[in-house]
Amino acid sequence: MNSLTTTYTLANGVEIPIIGFGTWQNIEQAESATLAAIKAGYRHIDTAAIYENEEPVGNAIHASGVDRKDLFITTKLWNAERGYETTLAAFDESLRKLRLDYLDLYLVHWPAHALVSENWAAINAQTWLAFEEIYNSGRVRAIGISNFSVPYLTELMKTARITPMVNQVEFHPGYMQPETVQMSKDLGMVVEAWSPLGSGAMLHDPTLVEIADAYGVSVAQLCVRWCLQHQTLPMPKSVSPERIVQNADVFGFEISAEDMAKIDALPESGFSGLHPDRNPF
Ligand SMILES: NC(=O)c1ccc[n+]([C@@H]2O[C@H](COP(=O)([O-])OP(=O)(O)OC[C@H]3O[C@@H](n4cnc5c(N)ncnc54)[C@H](OP(=O)(O)O)[C@@H]3O)[C@@H](O)[C@H]2O)c1
Repeated sequence: MNSLTTTYTLANGVEIPIIGFGTWQNIEQAESATLAAIKAGYRHIDTAAIYENEEPVGNAIHASGVDRKDLFITTKLWNAERGYETTLAAFDESLRKLRLDYLDLYLVHWPAHALVSENWAAINAQTWLAFEEIYNSGRVRAIGISNFSVPYLTELMKTARITPMVNQVEFHPGYMQPETVQMSKDLGMVVEAWSPLGSGAMLHDPTLVEIADAYGVSVAQLCVRWCLQHQTLPMPKSVSPERIVQNADVFGFEISAEDMAKIDALPESGFSGLHPDRNPF
C-alpha cells in the first residue's frame, strides 16, 4: 500500500485502486474537480446517476488524456430505476452520459426496503438479476451494491447467482457499521467507505485533531489512512485542487495500533442520518 495506483483485488480478479475520488454534491465543479483528481494521480472515480454529474465527470475522463484502461469508473443505479427492465435501461443511459462503452463498477445505490414496497426483497432480486445480465454481457467489469446492511445482504444472497464484488457503505471515524462490514468481507466483497471524512463533520473532532497533530497530518488525511488500515476503500470528495492532492497524500505515515483503537472507540458521530431502513426513497 504505497500509492494511488495500489489496488485491492476483487473476487473476480479485477484490480480496483484503493482510493476513489468522490463526486457527490458537486455538479458545477464536477468536471474541474475530477480533472484535478486525475491530474493528481487518482485513477478511481465514483459517481452516480442521482448526482447529476455523469456528463461533466465523463468530460473530465475524456479530457484527461489518461488511457481508459488505466481508469476505474463507478456509477450507481438510482432507486427510481429499480427492477429488471428499468435497470437495463438506466445502465445504458449512464454509459451514454459518461460517453463510455464500458464501466468498471456498477452499484445498486440503495436497497428497496419495507417503507417503499412490501415486495422489497423481490424488487432487489430483480434489480440484481439485471446487474448479472449486464455483467455477463461484458459491459461492466464488476458489479456490486451500496448501503446493503445485514438484512438486505442476507435476503439478496438467497437469489443472487453472482455474489456482489463490492459493498459501498458509510464508514468513517464515529460510524463503522461493524456487522455489515464483517458480513461483506466474509462474502468476499471489498468494502468501500463513503463519506470517509463524515462529509466534513469529523474534521474538527478533538480526538482526531490531537492524533492528526501528533503525526503532522490533517484530520482528513488521518481519516483516509484510518479507512485504509481497516482494509476499506475510502473515497474522499473535494472541489479544491489542494485538498484533492492532500487527501491522497496518506502513504508517508502509519497510524499505530493504539491510535487506531482510540479512533475506533469514538462515540457515534458524524452519522449522515441516511439509513437503508428509513430513507424516504
Ligand atoms: N453510496 C452512497 O450512498 C454514498 C453516499 C454518500 C457519499 N458517497 C460517495 O462518497 C464520497 C465521499 O463522501 P462525501 O462527499 O459525503 O464526503 P467526504 O469525502 O467525507 O467529505 C467531503 C467534505 O469534506 C471537505 N473536505 C474534503 N477534503 C478536505 C480537506 N482535506 N480539508 C478540509 N475539508 C475537506 C469537502 O469540502 P470541499 O469540497 O470544499 O473541499 C466536503 O465538504 C461522495 O462524494 C460519493 O462519491 C456515496
